[in-house]
Amino acid sequence: MSADYQVHGNVAVITLNNPPVNGLGLETRSAAVEGVRRAEADDAVEAIVITGAGKAFSGGADIREFNSPKALTEPTLHSLIRVVENASKPVVAAIHSVCMGGGLELALGCNYRVALPGAQIALPEVKLGLLPGAGGTQRLPRVLGLEMALNMIVSGTPVQSEKLAGTALFDEVFPAGADLLDSALAFARKVAAVRPLPKVRDRTVDYPNHEAFLQFSRNTVKAMAGPFPAPLECIEAVAAAVTSKDFEAGLKFERERFLHLTQTPESKALRHAFFAERAAGKLPDVPADTPVRAIGSAAVIGAGTMGGGIAMNFANAGIPVTILETRQEALDKGLATIRKNYESSVKKGKLTADKLEQRMALIRTTLSYADIAQADIVIEAVFEDLKVKEAVFRELDKVMKPGAILASNTSTLDLDKIAAFTSRPQDVIGLHFFSPANVMKLLEIVRGKQTAKDVLATAMALSKKIKKTGVVSGVCDGFIGNRMLEQYLRQAFFLLDEGALPEQVDAAIEGFGFAMGPFRMSDLAGNDIGWYIRKRRAVEQPEIAYSKTADLLCEQGRFGQKTGAGWYDYKPGDRKAYPSEAVNAMIVQHSADLGLERRQIPDQEIVERLVFALVNEGAKILEEGIALRASDIDMVYLTGYGFPLHRGGPMFYADTVGLPNVLIAMEKYGRGRHGEAWKPADLIVKLAAEGKGFNG
Ligand code: NAI
Repeated sequence: MSADYQVHGNVAVITLNNPPVNGLGLETRSAAVEGVRRAEADDAVEAIVITGAGKAFSGGADIREFNSPKALTEPTLHSLIRVVENASKPVVAAIHSVCMGGGLELALGCNYRVALPGAQIALPEVKLGLLPGAGGTQRLPRVLGLEMALNMIVSGTPVQSEKLAGTALFDEVFPAGADLLDSALAFARKVAAVRPLPKVRDRTVDYPNHEAFLQFSRNTVKAMAGPFPAPLECIEAVAAAVTSKDFEAGLKFERERFLHLTQTPESKALRHAFFAERAAGKLPDVPADTPVRAIGSAAVIGAGTMGGGIAMNFANAGIPVTILETRQEALDKGLATIRKNYESSVKKGKLTADKLEQRMALIRTTLSYADIAQADIVIEAVFEDLKVKEAVFRELDKVMKPGAILASNTSTLDLDKIAAFTSRPQDVIGLHFFSPANVMKLLEIVRGKQTAKDVLATAMALSKKIKKTGVVSGVCDGFIGNRMLEQYLRQAFFLLDEGALPEQVDAAIEGFGFAMGPFRMSDLAGNDIGWYIRKRRAVEQPEIAYSKTADLLCEQGRFGQKTGAGWYDYKPGDRKAYPSEAVNAMIVQHSADLGLERRQIPDQEIVERLVFALVNEGAKILEEGIALRASDIDMVYLTGYGFPLHRGGPMFYADTVGLPNVLIAMEKYGRGRHGEAWKPADLIVKLAAEGKGFNG
């Protein structure tokens, strides 16, 4: 039973009860219908109140029912709303905390709605590439008016209930601290005898010159929606509420557009990302009830690019953090950068001046390990050099209190080697942040051979606390993200040798939807980082072929934006990338030196070679168990590398293309120059033969 039924005098109370947010799953819907029927059959009952137990009125559809036939099993949400709307006795929705999606659509089917202040009211379906499909687009404009309803439906953004007091959405918003049930019962008794029963469907949407407003909205939303069709479809559904001859015709139109959206690749990608994010934090051998270590204080070693950003994460979460450096000047510089970052948030209105000072007060600095010994977690972010890391970890092992978590932000070094510098490898973990660390959502949590389960569980809980998407990776060179990126960049550089120029490659992949192409990205991150890695690779794995173009660039000191020149030219104080004649001449010359005849490379080839290089390496990462699931790899690319959200991540995208088609393309490129890079991962061959995809 996932709704409770009780009678209080002459009022029946149906309490939705499906933790955590009373999602309207099949059992809850059935129990609610049953409750209404029972109340109608009971002569002593004169009115019905529907409310929600625990933390919500209702958060909407039960996400556990997504993609399952249960969502379409009677009573559907539509049927439940119809039963409520057609009840012979008045039905009052008593709303608190959260009333979203299907929950709000149910409330709109009730005759009356009362609420406590502070409840989040929203129709967030657009965020999953959908529109509210159970009458929301038809009923909300009838109570809020065209403009406000359109804003809420197109943005999906929650509005606090008290801000909607005085609209026809709420018959009453009770004062803060009121008892919702008592107040709702009193309200229900007051209206018990009122006939006819008021229904939202009987109202009309009046808006002078609505066509002009709708057209203006279409233009504005078209410019903002990018590749996503749902926001515009939301407008058309709301338009139907104004223009349809009758309510049922509007509902039918809404249904059609909803069903159409469920089939779009964009909505499928958004829903994939939604579930991928929830799955990412889960490890089969680390159950949800694994104890976590308390994190009340933190320390960061190194106040450089990464250290400062990492420290800000702790301060933002209210956790005191101490930064340790070798020199006072480095501390002063790091602290000044942190302050500058916060000041820029204040200027943008994202942070108050008070908060800035509170956060700065949480950040302390030191030159002495004794000052950090009591920290619950320490994150090392010193130079990417195993010798330097060794010295740091040996020192940490000496001074840190027992049970402290020792983390490294290394991007490429072997975490197990780092752990072996200590006498407590079980306490060592990789926490790989992305630059800028105070902004980027991704946190790769690197699990060493001996990392303890409670350390992993703590790291995952911490990632939530500091508002990151934590994805667990095994130990390998580059972990999930950078290991794949290397193959992507190798293709980007080969393309230059064969006939493309940086601006063409960037434009093609940005046209696919990447936030930034490989060359603009390398200029931002610093071309010297890749140079350093290639030099190391040349010693460790001389068999891997690389284009020399990027090395030639670095030999000229063109490290990117920080040196004012990289793959592109830059002007002082301007981050815009200008195609560089000198670099392009160098690229053309290099092709000639290699004896290669440059050819016109189609954009489709550029996109396929870059994206399928990610897919092939991703498949190997899955095979080796470095990533636990394909969707984890997608999360890494969506949150850390600017992969287009509407394509769902590289592995999901490969599934939409179809793995047999991916294989055909890989075979084609395998016949070209450096074809060995295209040897397909066994997993792709196997899944393609079985007619499966990475995501089942
Ligand atoms: P950075 O060069 O900006 O900063 C390193 C800081 O560590 C310097 O301030 C230096 O004074 C300090 N330092 C060096 N040795 C030290 C020691 N023994 N004790 C205390 N402080 C010491 O380097 P960055 O970019 O912040 O990188 C740090 C780590 O983060 C590296 O392992 C790097 O691979 C990793 N990383 C870097 C990313 C990036 O985009 N820059 C992204 C993700 C990880």
